[in-house]
Amino acid sequence: MKHFLTILLAAALCFDSFAQTGPDVLIPKPVSATLLQGETSADVAVKTVIGGRKFKAAVKGLPDYAAKEAYRLTIKGKTAVVEALTEEGAYRGKMSLEYMKLMCGDGRLAACEIFDYPRLRHRGLMFDLSRHFRDKDFILKQIRIMELLKLNVLHLHLTDDAGWRIQTDKYPLLTSRAAWRDKATWKEWDESGHNYAVEGEPGAFGGYFTKDDIREILAHAAKSHITVIPEIELPGHSLEVTKAYPGTACLDSTGTRPVFTSDLCPGSDEALQMFKDILDEVIDLFPSEFIHIGGDEAAKTAWKTCPRCIARMKKHGLKDVDELQSWFVRQFDEYLASKGRRLLGWDEIMQGGLAPGATVMSWRDTEHGAIAAAAGHDVIMTPCNWCYINRNQDNPLALGEFVGGYLPLSRVYAYDPADGFPDTSRLLGLQGNLWTEHVPTVENFEFKAYPRAFAIAEIGWTPQEQRSFDGFRPRAVLLTDKMRSFGYNPFDLNKEWGERPEKSIELNHLARGCKVTYNLPYSSQYPAEGESALTNGLQGGWTYVGDCWQGFQSDIDVTVDLGKIQQISFVGAHFLANIGAWIGFPVKIQVLTSPDGVNFADTTEVLCQVKATDDGAVYTLLGDFKERQARYVRFKAFRSDRKFHDWLFIDELIIK
Ligand code: ACM
Ligand code: ZN
Repeated sequence: MKHFLTILLAAALCFDSFAQTGPDVLIPKPVSATLLQGETSADVAVKTVIGGRKFKAAVKGLPDYAAKEAYRLTIKGKTAVVEALTEEGAYRGKMSLEYMKLMCGDGRLAACEIFDYPRLRHRGLMFDLSRHFRDKDFILKQIRIMELLKLNVLHLHLTDDAGWRIQTDKYPLLTSRAAWRDKATWKEWDESGHNYAVEGEPGAFGGYFTKDDIREILAHAAKSHITVIPEIELPGHSLEVTKAYPGTACLDSTGTRPVFTSDLCPGSDEALQMFKDILDEVIDLFPSEFIHIGGDEAAKTAWKTCPRCIARMKKHGLKDVDELQSWFVRQFDEYLASKGRRLLGWDEIMQGGLAPGATVMSWRDTEHGAIAAAAGHDVIMTPCNWCYINRNQDNPLALGEFVGGYLPLSRVYAYDPADGFPDTSRLLGLQGNLWTEHVPTVENFEFKAYPRAFAIAEIGWTPQEQRSFDGFRPRAVLLTDKMRSFGYNPFDLNKEWGERPEKSIELNHLARGCKVTYNLPYSSQYPAEGESALTNGLQGGWTYVGDCWQGFQSDIDVTVDLGKIQQISFVGAHFLANIGAWIGFPVKIQVLTSPDGVNFADTTEVLCQVKATDDGAVYTLLGDFKERQARYVRFKAFRSDRKFHDWLFIDELIIK
C-alpha cells in the first residue's frame, strides 16, 4: 500500500512538473510573448528596473500613453525581471506575472519574455451605484480583477434618481434623504412611485460612500494604477436632488410651485451654485483629470414653461431648451477648467452645442463619438449595443432579470472602437458600462460583469489585428473558473446556450410571404421588418431588440390574406415576455377566418395560462384549432390589464 501511494505521489509530482503556465493564458493578450528554454516555480524572485537605457530604446516611437504603461517581463532561471519606464508600466508587468502565478497554482511557470503596451489609453468600466448601492468592499473586490485585466479606469456613477451615493458636507440632505428610498430594489421603487426615505428610519434602503470610504477606494485604485472618475449627474437623472432641495427644481408656469421631474432647473441659481459647491468637494477628493457630469436623457419638458428657465433663455439669447442645456453644461465646463480639470459627459451634451473643453462619452451609438472627434473633441466609446454589459448575455430563461438587447461575450469582443473613425487621434479608448436597474444583487452584478469585462480589457489593450475570439474564449473560460474559486460569480461560459436556436431556422408555412393588414398598428419603435415581419419566416432571438420581434403597445389585431381558399389546421405564434421591459405574454388569443375578407366566423379562442411574472421566455401558443377552409385569417392577441404589461412582441404568425 505504501509503495502504491509513493508511485501515485511521484506521478502527481511528475505531472505537475509538466504543467507549465505561460503568457498564453493572459487577458489581455500581450503584444509580444516568446517562450524561452526552461521553467521556474511560482515563487520566483521579482526584480524591477525602471527607466533602464535598453528599455527606453525599446519603447522609442510608441505614443507617450503607451510607453508609460509598457513593460518587459522576463522570466528566466529563478528570477522574473520587470522593466518599464514608469511605476505604472512596472505594475502592469507585475500583473502579468501575478496572473500567470494565479493560473499556475502549484505548477511551474514557463520561462518567457513578454514585451507589452496598450493600444488605447482609456480602458474602463463604469459601475452604476445609484440604482443599487454597493459598498466599499465590493468596489475593492472588483478592482482586484480590474488590475489583473490591466483595466485602468473605474468610472463611478454616483448620483441618479434612485439614490445619491457620496457624502457632500455642504448639502447634508443629499445623504440623509436623497440616498435613501422606501424599497430595496430599483424595480419595486420604480413601480411604486419613486418614494424616498430618511436615513436611519426603519424601512429606509440605500446608502452612500463617506469621504473616508472614497479615500480608501482611491488609495487602492492608485496602488493599482487605476484612475477613478466620479460622475455627478446633471441636469437630468436628478429627481433625488430636486426632492431634497426643491429650489433646484423647475417651477410651474405661474412660478409658484416646484415641478418634480428628473431634471434640475437650469434657470435656478440655487442649482447652479449647489453643483459648483459639490464639484468643489468632489475635486478635493478625486485626483482624476476628468470629472463626469452626466448630461444624458434630460427630458427638458418642464424647462419650456418654467419662468426661471424662460428668463435664462431670454437673458442669454438661447433659442430652445437644447441651447439652455448646452449653456448649463458650459458653466461647469468653465468651472472645472478653472480648477484644472476637464469635463466629461454622455453624448447628449452635444445637443444645443458642445462645450469647448468637453470630452464626449458616446453611448447611444458610434456616430456621436465620431462626430465629436471630427469637431476636435476627445471621445471615449461606450456604445450601448456592444459595451452595456448589463444587457442579456444568454438565454433569458437561464438568467433572471434583464432588459435590452442580446449581448453575448462574442458580440462585445467583436467591437472595434476605431470603427467609424477616419482619424483615431481623438479616440481615448473604451469602456464597459454596467447599469444596475435590473441588477439587484452582488452575485448578479458579477454574473453580468464577467467575463464581458475581459473583452473590454482585451479590446483596449491588444492590437486589433492580433485579436481573435477563438483565441480569447478559452482564456476567458480559464479566468472565470479561477475567479469562482476566489468567491466571484462570473457567468459560466461552459453553460452558454448561445443565440436562441430558432433564430437561425426559417419557418415555412401557409402564410409565408402573404400580405398582412394591420387592424391595429405596430409600434414605430419596434417595427422589425415592417408589414412583412409576421410572415417572412424569420424568428427572433432572445430579446426584443433586433430585426425580428415586432412590438405592439396595444393588443394585436392583424388579418392575413392567404391568396386563395386553403385548408387550415393550425394557427400559432411566438411571443416574447420581458416584464422588466414591460413586455408581457398575451392573456387571450382569438382567431377568426373568412372566405372573402368581409364575413368572419368560426372564432377560436385560447386563454393563455401565463403568470404575471412570466419573463424572458419564448412561447409558441398553439391554437386548439378546428380544421377549416378559408382565405383570410384574422389573428388577435390581447394584452393583460396588469401594470407593466404594456407591450406585446411577436416574431411570426404561423399558419399550417
Ligand atoms: C445612458 O445610458 N443613459 C448614459
Ligand atoms: Zn426651470
